[in-house]
Amino acid sequence: MSESESQVWDAVDAYFTDRLSPDDEVTAAALRDSEAAGLPSISVTANQGKLLQLFAEIQGARAILEIGTLGGYSTIWMARALPADGRLISLEYDPRHAEVAVRNIARAGLDKVVEVRVGAALESLPLLADENPPPFDLVFIDADKANNPHYLEWALKLTSVGSLIVVDNVVRGGRVVDADSDTGDVRGTRAAIELIAAHPRLSGTAIQTVGAKGYDGFALARVLA
Ligand SMILES: C[S@@+](CC[C@H](N)C(=O)[O-])C[C@H]1O[C@@H](n2cnc3c(N)ncnc32)[C@H](O)[C@@H]1O
Repeated sequence: MSESESQVWDAVDAYFTDRLSPDDEVTAAALRDSEAAGLPSISVTANQGKLLQLFAEIQGARAILEIGTLGGYSTIWMARALPADGRLISLEYDPRHAEVAVRNIARAGLDKVVEVRVGAALESLPLLADENPPPFDLVFIDADKANNPHYLEWALKLTSVGSLIVVDNVVRGGRVVDADSDTGDVRGTRAAIELIAAHPRLSGTAIQTVGAKGYDGFALARVLA
């Protein structure tokens, strides 16, 4: 990517965001407080947050599962699509991130519908499954990419026909095509793509994106049975 290309991507992102999905006081404050608390700037962008919100609305979601909370920015976008008696469970490994997220979510007035659970997601997921929750209508996977195939398997256990699973950051600046990569995130991402391709209960695709957060993309998979 040349510098001028990336400037155009940024400008187009800014234009779309300004017209279609601007941050309001609450989402802007969530980003501001996350940054002030020293959290890394790796949340989704506003237009991606709006896309997640639209997915939740299209799904008519009553229950959403998120793996990877950070400061709760994507959480807020998605939870805003839920009815008052809806539920969003977000799993976060780092207690410091979870603490910031809980504050941001409370300020958004979403603390009645959102629950942040602290711990490694691969430990939290079996505990969640033991509770026999109603199927999640939308699952957003956005944590440690090396575990993406495991998160997909858990998502399949916790969803039902018609549920939608979104896996973020599947392009990694193009590194996803490196079949010989020895990095965990590329291997995990490729394993997740292969799993979606081969799984009889999943129909999926993946889309490349450019914009304010560079060159990346997301995979979408619909649960078929
Ligand atoms: C990309 S950030 C999530 C961004 C967030 N979804 C957003 O867009 O606002 C990834 C988060 O996953 C968390 N994480 C990393 N490994 C994890 C694990 N094993 N279990 C749960 N969370 C994990 C990180 O601490 C980080 O907060």
